[in-house]
Amino acid sequence: MLEYILPTIAILLLVVVVYAYLDLRRLGELDREYLNLILDNATIAIFSIDSEGDIKSWNRASERVTGYSKEEITFDKLKILFPDFKIDSRIASQETRIKCKDGSLKTMQYSTDLMRDAGGSPIGVVCVAEDITKRKKIEQQLKEYSEQLEKKVEERTRALIRSEKLALVGQVAVALAHEIGNPLTNASLYTQLLLKKARGEGRKKLSIISEQVDAATSTVKKLLDFSRPPEYEFRKVDVNRELSRTLEIMQPQLSKTNVKVIKNLDSVPYVMADHLQLQQVFVNLINNACHAMPDGGRLLVSTRVKNEHVEIEISDTGEGIPKEHLGRIFDPFFTTKKAGKGTGLGLSISHQIIERHSGSIEVKSGVGGGSTFIVRLPIFNKEA
Ligand SMILES: Nc1ncnc2c1ncn2[C@@H]1O[C@H](COP(=O)(O)OP(=O)(O)OP(=O)(O)O)[C@@H](O)[C@H]1O
Ligand SMILES: [Mg+2]
Repeated sequence: MLEYILPTIAILLLVVVVYAYLDLRRLGELDREYLNLILDNATIAIFSIDSEGDIKSWNRASERVTGYSKEEITFDKLKILFPDFKIDSRIASQETRIKCKDGSLKTMQYSTDLMRDAGGSPIGVVCVAEDITKRKKIEQQLKEYSEQLEKKVEERTRALIRSEKLALVGQVAVALAHEIGNPLTNASLYTQLLLKKARGEGRKKLSIISEQVDAATSTVKKLLDFSRPPEYEFRKVDVNRELSRTLEIMQPQLSKTNVKVIKNLDSVPYVMADHLQLQQVFVNLINNACHAMPDGGRLLVSTRVKNEHVEIEISDTGEGIPKEHLGRIFDPFFTTKKAGKGTGLGLSISHQIIERHSGSIEVKSGVGGGSTFIVRLPIFNKEA
């Protein structure tokens, strides 16, 4: 009886074992398939390498991001993509720029971890890499926007402060024009009369008085112009012509201070402007340049067309402007000159004039590196 039963039990056991084995294998295949599905559907690149440097897995996102298929990718190519990559150590989150198969550059954030077998020995590494190119671009744009916004807020605040100061200057100027302006005109008149008859030492002293009276009259005029700008007469103006005229008028002063003028005037289109007001801006800028070069230097005057505007650049090789002053030089009454030498109105008047021409004025300067003032005026447009 036993001799029949034992083989039957043995066959039964074998069948059970075979079935169990087959079932386990099916289960293993299913697991692997499922795992591959997960890997291939992941939106981030995931790949693994064994300790020999063989790429064991390379999901679809890895192919998509790098352009290399699973068949093409090798450890050498991988090292070019991720130069810091190692098969025996982990890398905590790191950013890198990779050059893809098509030559495009992408920013990746990746990290690697060691894979260990059941006994705990390292058998390779697994890497997870995310393409953050778009995110980086957006971050950069956001940074630029916020910087621009900050700059605009600062400019607007300055403009507001300036306009508040302007209102104050206006009130003071009107009062001054009456209280000081008229006596000054009389004083100037009588000094001129006396000068005609005076000789010798007396004439010398009278000349000094005359100069001082003229300086004071000019200050009052500046204040008045500033608070009540004259009516502008806009017409087609050739900027190069106005610059050349201004330089001609100022030539004696430029020669006296040993300033060499270098002109670099491109042929530029007309602008809509009040030519006398433009000349006033140029005089103010050139005057400042001369004051910044008491021992002589170079004055570069250039014009060009840029972004629908005529750009006028007036540069000097003078002392330059300290960083902390740059934001204040266009404010009324800001001056670093000795009392009686400057009112601090030249640049604020120039700013006002250029604003009325729908243009802009900016400065680039640093201590010891000279200063460059750039005036931009919209090109005259016949259709407008
Ligand atoms: N080219 C320049 N180089 C160096 N500093 C300059 C230059 N232009 C302007 N500045 C600085 O800006 C300040 C303000 O200039 P702004 O022309 O408004 O007034 P000012 O020259 O002092 O007096 P004024 O009313 O007589 O023109 C100057 O005192 C000087 O400190
Ligand atoms: Mg000045």
